[in-house]
Amino acid sequence: MEPVHGRTETSPKVSNAEVLTFIWSFWKRRPRSFAFAGALTLLWTGLDLSLPLASSHLITAVSSQPFRIADAWGAWRLYIVLFAAYAVTRNVTFRLWARIAALNMEALLNDAFRRLQAAPVEWHGSQGSGTTIRRVIRAMWGYDSVTDAVTIWFAPSSVVLVGLCTALAWRELTAGLVAFATVSGFLIASALLTVRYVRPANLYSNQCDAHLSGSLADALDANSVIKSFATELRERQHIADAAATWRRAILVTWGRFIDIGLIQNACLLLLLAGISAAMLHAWDHAHADAGDIAFAITSFLVMSGYLRNVGENVRQLQRGLDDTSDAVALRHLQTEEVDAPSGNFALTGGTIVFDNVSFAYPNAKHAACSNTSFTVACGEIVALMGPSGTGKSTLIKLMQRMYELQSGKILIGGRDTTRIPLHALRRSIAVAPQQPDLFHRSVRENIAYGRPDASLTEIIEAARVAQADRFINELSEGYDTLVGERGAKLSGGQRQRVAIARALLAEAPIVVLDESTSALDPKTEEAILARLRSYLRGRTCVFITHRPSAAQFADRIVHIADGRIESIESMPPVSAQTTPPFAMRGATDAA
Ligand SMILES: Nc1ncnc2c1ncn2[C@@H]1O[C@H](COP(=O)(O)OP(=O)(O)OP(=O)(O)O)[C@@H](O)[C@H]1O
Ligand SMILES: [Mg+2]
Repeated sequence: MEPVHGRTETSPKVSNAEVLTFIWSFWKRRPRSFAFAGALTLLWTGLDLSLPLASSHLITAVSSQPFRIADAWGAWRLYIVLFAAYAVTRNVTFRLWARIAALNMEALLNDAFRRLQAAPVEWHGSQGSGTTIRRVIRAMWGYDSVTDAVTIWFAPSSVVLVGLCTALAWRELTAGLVAFATVSGFLIASALLTVRYVRPANLYSNQCDAHLSGSLADALDANSVIKSFATELRERQHIADAAATWRRAILVTWGRFIDIGLIQNACLLLLLAGISAAMLHAWDHAHADAGDIAFAITSFLVMSGYLRNVGENVRQLQRGLDDTSDAVALRHLQTEEVDAPSGNFALTGGTIVFDNVSFAYPNAKHAACSNTSFTVACGEIVALMGPSGTGKSTLIKLMQRMYELQSGKILIGGRDTTRIPLHALRRSIAVAPQQPDLFHRSVRENIAYGRPDASLTEIIEAARVAQADRFINELSEGYDTLVGERGAKLSGGQRQRVAIARALLAEAPIVVLDESTSALDPKTEEAILARLRSYLRGRTCVFITHRPSAAQFADRIVHIADGRIESIESMPPVSAQTTPPFAMRGATDAA
């Protein structure tokens, strides 16, 4: 099979048993509803099973000598009542299963999203969001297919098939034995072929399908780049190649499913031939009457209906198991403990100490920072400067514990960051990142993201410091204007200013501006930095910049080159530095 190119990662191999255990864990969440639906399923199955008996009873009554019309009507009534009861019970049961399925699919999605959120940044960096979304949504539907196959189809089918084979054997032993043998052969062949022959092809085509979704998402996300480079044809070809790979893969998978259908039909032919021949033989030797023949034919019709369902559902089951396996694979991911700590934990003061910090990204040839040591005092404003790619942003990510240090320590407020619960640590550092991502929500919601309870006055104040208030007021709906996906409706500099206001308003004891004014004109940048100190009121601030004019606003400048500290420069004291140390507000709030 051809490899899937691009960003798609191969999921770890997950066995069918492991996926079934995962699905079982959802069934167990509603034991009473599940048991009730199971009991109702058995009931309608039993009613279905009684239909051939009722039809046989009717034919025997009609053909009996002497003929009694009352007996015939009695048999007719029984037949009709049984069928009506079967139809009603089946309908009620399906409604119940539908409710359980919807609740569990919802739970599966929430569970998967929680795990995705807790996955390390490194994992997210290697996955495309389009691929991941496709896998999670497919897993939801996979759960539904597996549950339907097992509960609605396999369980009743097994009862009906075993029941009918037994009833046949009771009426005509040879016919019953033929039925048992062909039904068992059918089931064993279906299961073996599905697992050994179809599953590998199905897993591969799933991978191609996820890759196709990832490629589409990538191309749509970068659509403006495609337009500006006028590379539509090239990108269309890229998608066409991914689609063609998917087509070849899915044709192999479907072909194998169809092959199984052929073998299953051959088993059905054997069943029909075997039962009818056994019954004809019995008729010929006067061991069977018209009722027996009717019973045998009705049984075959019911059995072949169920067997076809089983055949279809073996395929459905395997498809469902393969689709769900991606959600199971998420459980193998190493995760971070990002949820709110149960106890109260507040960081006081924002002193930052980098103590001999070294770090290299996985598979990197060079360390991003080596033996880096410097301190930022509480309430101090420090600028980090240095050429591109020298590890400035990496220091911030290490402080937030997006990655774990390989040696050295980082202390915040006197505490080793590895001993601070992640939730508290990250809430105490408000970052305006180099590439600000905004939510497709209103400007107001974006600015108040770190403090949803902030008043409009506070939001406007933060926006004023970030020099964003004026352009926001000029937007069609002011602070209520939706900013578009990732802030697409704003200019680069406007997006940066909204991100600065968001970081300032969060009221974390440490504020980091990572080249957050890089897209602004020098005048606007200066206006922001000039108001920063008084707005921060004693909070610690690290800002990364390439512009010497901006660095003048700091108390000290740390110069970094090749992942090492080159020099630390103190700037002339600023009068406003005497503001009292900041006391963090709401650091222990649940998010
Ligand atoms: N997720 C990552 N995986 C692997 N390597 C990375 C990753 N992020 C950054 N790097 C590498 O680490 C080094 C330091 O990157 P970093 O982003 O810290 O630089 P920077 O000093 O902030 O640069 P700039 O001024 O351009 O923002 C670079 O060589 C970069 O290629
Ligand atoms: Mg950077």
